Amino acid sequence: MFAVHLLAFYFTKLKEDQIKKVDRFLYHMRLSDETLRDIMARFQAEMQRGLGKDTNPTASVKMLPTFVRAIPDGSENGEFLSLDLGGSKFRVLKVQVSEEGKQKVQMESQFYPTPNEIIRGNGAELFEYVADCLADFMKTKGLTHKKLPLGLTFSFPCRQTKLEEGVLISWTKKFKARGVQDTDVVSCLTKAMKNHKDIDVDILALVNDTVGTMMTCAYDDPYCEVGVIIGTGTNACYMEDMSNIDLVEGDEGRMCISTEWGAFGDDGALEDIRTEFDRDLDLGSLNPGKQLFEKMISGLYLGELVRLILVKMTKAGLLFGGRKSSSLHTKGKIETRHVAAMEKYKEGLANTREILTDLGLEPSEADCVAVQHVCTIVSFRSANLCAAALAAILTRLRENKKLVRLRTTVGVDGTVYKIHPQYPKRLHKVVRRLVPNCDVRFLLSESGSTKGAAMVTAVASRVQAQRKQ
Ligand code: GLC
Repeated sequence: MFAVHLLAFYFTKLKEDQIKKVDRFLYHMRLSDETLRDIMARFQAEMQRGLGKDTNPTASVKMLPTFVRAIPDGSENGEFLSLDLGGSKFRVLKVQVSEEGKQKVQMESQFYPTPNEIIRGNGAELFEYVADCLADFMKTKGLTHKKLPLGLTFSFPCRQTKLEEGVLISWTKKFKARGVQDTDVVSCLTKAMKNHKDIDVDILALVNDTVGTMMTCAYDDPYCEVGVIIGTGTNACYMEDMSNIDLVEGDEGRMCISTEWGAFGDDGALEDIRTEFDRDLDLGSLNPGKQLFEKMISGLYLGELVRLILVKMTKAGLLFGGRKSSSLHTKGKIETRHVAAMEKYKEGLANTREILTDLGLEPSEADCVAVQHVCTIVSFRSANLCAAALAAILTRLRENKKLVRLRTTVGVDGTVYKIHPQYPKRLHKVVRRLVPNCDVRFLLSESGSTKGAAMVTAVASRVQAQRKQ
């Protein structure tokens, strides 16, 4: 009995010591509520700059009008196709929306690979590949001779002047296909589809994944007016009053704005909170100097941040007895799914040992505890930063409506939010603390980003049909 107590005591002591050590080392990554409030205020100012006609050209947060004005009202119906390019997986989907019955939305989908040669090769070939996958999907589902409306989820910043057109401002995340920037991606796809005489689709909408997420959630919950993605990349959209959107004519009603918050800080606005690890990560990325907020938050980067920290701590003799391993020194060897596994409640410590051993290390118990805490600090910072920007959006919505208290729903999708065991809870808690005068409901939108493009298309064809009447 005594021995058991003694063991427990030693483990608690070991844990405390390791946590203290990591806390000291990563002091700059632990953000206080005061700092978060400050970031929230900076993001509010950035949104304003992005919305203004004169300030938009130099604003880093682009606040892109999406030309999505109406939210589903439940009267949509028909068969729609949707393509989802830019998330963790490329997917083609058929959605059947009906007014009646419990199962109002039925979907069938198919994933296709996106090899690096395709997403970083020639732009025309990328769209030919997308069209080939669509043709393959339609063939397998027996849809070849139907004329169907299609929505394209394209999760990159696009300048839109109407729903069915969008000029790519720049690639983000893992994509870098040549010759697409500054061109309309809907025309690129339409052109590529001309090679397939047997398929006839009508591209009705180009939709960012955040917009798709918001629309999918809004179908189930009419209070939903914000969409957030915390996946490979990160971004948020929300419904803004037309009278505040200088870049679009008209003052009536609202329009969805894709904030492209991933670029927050690209003008130096976050230099005081970025660390040496953020700078190293940025230098080794596909788009140095760009998407600096995203690089502190999203799934493409969290694992790499953890790896860079571990390398530095090992060099300083704080981990693994100072012994190196070539795997640990190889870019990309720690992924976000590893971070999520290491932070699991019960199995976390065992997972950490396994992951580190797979990297060719021989971790002690103390090393495992320390590494686990590094993961917690990195993923907690991500949730904190997301919460600060989201709190700014919620405050803006509340002020636009001139309300003392706002009741609203936020639709969320993305691999980090879905696979990290603690992420949702942390995010919700911090948001509620930062905006005590908002009653926020978070709604996970399963497949929201893809399904949403079909929802937008469904709404667009409903509106089109109503106009014709
Ligand atoms: C990147 C893209 C943005 C997208 C987000 C989430 O930030 O620029 O358009 O919404 O990733 O996929």
